[in-house]
Amino acid sequence: MSRKTLNIGLFGFGCVGLGLYEVLQKTPALKASIKNICVKDREKERAIGKENFTFDKNDILDDESINVVVELIDDADAAFEIVSAALRKGKAVVSANKKMIAEHFAELLELQKEYNVPLLYEAACCASMPIIRNLEEYYDNDLLESIEGIVNGSTNYILTKTFEEDLSYDEALLQAQEKGFAESNPILDTGGFDAKYKLTILLAHAFGHVAKPKDIFNIGIDNIGELELKYAKEKKLKIKLVAQAYKQNDGSISAYVIPKFITPDDRLYNVDDVFNGVITKTSFADTHFFVGRGAGSLPTASAVLSDISALSYDYRYEYKKIYREEDTNLSNETLVKVLLRHKKADSEALKDYFENVEESYSNNDLGYITGTISLNSLI
Ligand SMILES: NC(=O)c1ccc[n+]([C@@H]2O[C@H](COP(=O)([O-])OP(=O)(O)OC[C@H]3O[C@@H](n4cnc5c(N)ncnc54)[C@H](OP(=O)(O)O)[C@@H]3O)[C@@H](O)[C@H]2O)c1
Repeated sequence: MSRKTLNIGLFGFGCVGLGLYEVLQKTPALKASIKNICVKDREKERAIGKENFTFDKNDILDDESINVVVELIDDADAAFEIVSAALRKGKAVVSANKKMIAEHFAELLELQKEYNVPLLYEAACCASMPIIRNLEEYYDNDLLESIEGIVNGSTNYILTKTFEEDLSYDEALLQAQEKGFAESNPILDTGGFDAKYKLTILLAHAFGHVAKPKDIFNIGIDNIGELELKYAKEKKLKIKLVAQAYKQNDGSISAYVIPKFITPDDRLYNVDDVFNGVITKTSFADTHFFVGRGAGSLPTASAVLSDISALSYDYRYEYKKIYREEDTNLSNETLVKVLLRHKKADSEALKDYFENVEESYSNNDLGYITGTISLNSLI
């Protein structure tokens, strides 16, 4: 199959944009070159000459010789304007912007259909780890039972550093930012929002369900306290921020993001630092385990590069599971195992919410309950 020549208009030249520039220099076999780069800050020092840049998005959007727009900016609203304008102009698009894609999934689906152009976004989910194309191409809808994993590199890095190296939370966050792992707005990572955006996208490709991020429950790592850390250490557990979605017996899907205690026999236990790990469970194959770098300049750029390469042979997501027209709905009628920290006085009232209490402890002012609670009660 002969490959198309790709003229790229690149938006963003930060951690991932620069990474893409570098990997493209090293892959001359791919007939793809960057024709223009749009950035925001006129004063910033750049790694390459000024003549490569524009500050006007229309210099790329109106350039008919540019057939691919690669969107790698850190502003989801501006990104949606750029990506939707590019699709309307018939340009193929590659993006890594999970917030933008998750919040506008249905509109982006329509735009791809109406203008008959592809939008690819492998890097938006687990950076370098190819999970979207696997979900899209390999797993048939009715075979896939669940998907569960660590999908946010910077919180995994922070948890690893605070837990194993006794770094303070602020020091670990700063390191994650310096290494280019963190979002510009850190609450997106630490509050579990970034993981939720990714789960929204994974849900569409795993089960054909298009959800709004606001309908998926998320708790981040920012409320993990000394008590939980001590509890985990004493019991030789690790704490990981886990995104999960599974089919229930009535056909509904439960999906949420929550910090979990992980036992040493769980495959997620050794997924540390900036790595992501995802376990899929199917009816016949049992489980598969994917692992790879979940953030960083070159690893993320490698997934963007793979999408660009896929465009050169006209690959696009077919969204077969979405168009299969099976009714899917999200349900919070499911049970989750939790440790709930509480003020001593609240202990008895909280126990009423539990389906099953395993352990209950309190000292003079604080306490915790472990056991099973319905997701609805937790929310
Ligand atoms: N970093 C990672 O490991 C990683 C992993 C997976 C996905 N992602 C996603 O990749 C995207 C880029 O992340 P990043 O880490 O590379 O961000 P970054 O280092 O903060 O760089 C952001 C870039 O966007 C540019 N920009 C912002 N608003 C713009 C606008 N309106 N028009 C043109 N350019 C604009 C900035 O321009 P200036 O240079 O002029 O400031 C900068 O070059 C985000 O969506 C992020 O979620 C990142």
